[in-house]
Amino acid sequence: MDSIVINGGKELRGSVLISGAKNAVLPMMAASLLADGVTTISNVPNLRDTRTMASLIEVTGAQVQLDYPEISIDSSTVHTLEAPYELVKTMRASFYILGPLLGRFGKAKISLPGGCAWGPRPVDFHLKALEKMGASIRLEKGYVLAEAQTLRGCSIQFDFPSVGATGNIVMAAVRASGITEIKNAAMEPEIEQLCTMLNMMGAQIEGVGTPYLTINGVKQLSPIHISVIPDRIEAGTFLIAGALLGRVSIEKTTPTHLKALLEKLHSSGTQVDIDKDSITVSSPGHIKPADLTTAVYPGFPTDLQAQWIACMSTAGGSSVVTDTVYHDRFSHVPELNRLGANITIENNSAFVRGVKKLKGAHVMSTDIRASASLILGGLVAEGETTVSRVYHIDRGYEHIVNKFQSLGADIKRIQS
Ligand code: UD1
Repeated sequence: MDSIVINGGKELRGSVLISGAKNAVLPMMAASLLADGVTTISNVPNLRDTRTMASLIEVTGAQVQLDYPEISIDSSTVHTLEAPYELVKTMRASFYILGPLLGRFGKAKISLPGGCAWGPRPVDFHLKALEKMGASIRLEKGYVLAEAQTLRGCSIQFDFPSVGATGNIVMAAVRASGITEIKNAAMEPEIEQLCTMLNMMGAQIEGVGTPYLTINGVKQLSPIHISVIPDRIEAGTFLIAGALLGRVSIEKTTPTHLKALLEKLHSSGTQVDIDKDSITVSSPGHIKPADLTTAVYPGFPTDLQAQWIACMSTAGGSSVVTDTVYHDRFSHVPELNRLGANITIENNSAFVRGVKKLKGAHVMSTDIRASASLILGGLVAEGETTVSRVYHIDRGYEHIVNKFQSLGADIKRIQS
């Protein structure tokens, strides 16, 4: 298994091109199953998760051509309406193919995603909403068996604006008969792009980018070409690195998607210069502590919580970081403490007492964003840090080692 080895303390300078958004492209690839023909998607990041989604789509019989940064998916040959456990267990977002398969073919058999490094992450919102639309749902041997001769439009109110449930139900509803209303829908830019894509394919979705979606079902969707929005979480990770260690510009980004982080960087004393599609941050030398609470978009993303905690580890004072989206998403904390951070957890909050220095150590990554947090810790720490289990980072960050090297970091990947 590969590791990442970092000799910390090097100044970072330069600019980085931001890749396409993982969390946008995964549901977009699933949405291509709704069209009878070849959909092409560009600006696709070369990640383990995009390869997993491609394999999953191939299981259905669709033809996939992966030629990064472009992918084409021919869904005219779909014959197997199934997502097997072997693939779903490696990527929860596999569940996204339930909505399109049920919407277009009236049937789907999808493995339940199961647990993950931070809690159970249920799919009850997805299943309850599909049942309300007339689907029969059975659970058998770890699989969800869903069937519906016709899905009927209805009114759905989510208890929480779940990203995955919103995406899945929208993809089912575009082919339902009649009108589906979704109240308390997720407003994340990745869901906004999914709805934009579906409308380009011929769907009739109103309220795109708001918490209230109205979907008038249509009989057919057509294949299109679309380019993926920039990854705001990758962008945020490099901005935090710049705030800690020098002067970093990110190019090909969408600054409006990063408002909550930019405000926090500003409170931490970082200089932030925003242009049309680029942002430059300059480190204040010594970061000031800034509390934060994660929230759904446009709030501070839970996917940047781990990286912010790494940033606060060497701040000049104490801060409290609370996660309201995933209450137990703190597996990075004991690992950051191995680097000399002083962080305790109480309920869903991390109490971070800034220390003068972090010191290199061997740490283990437990999920995608925790890995990014440990890389940030290693870049700041004195001496050598080895981050193991880097397959997690391969799921969500394209060429992260090369990108940090181009900024001047002493970081390499080794095979062990
Ligand atoms: C997506 C993102 C993930 C991000 C998360 C929150 C993708 C591929 N993944 O995950 O990176 O961290 O949004 O922004 O886009 N919930 C339920 N029942 C459900 C569904 C969700 O209780 O049926 C709860 C979850 O346990 C969690 C909250 O709702 O507490 C938010 O989850 P959700 O928005 O669904 O996250 P994902 O779509 O899984």
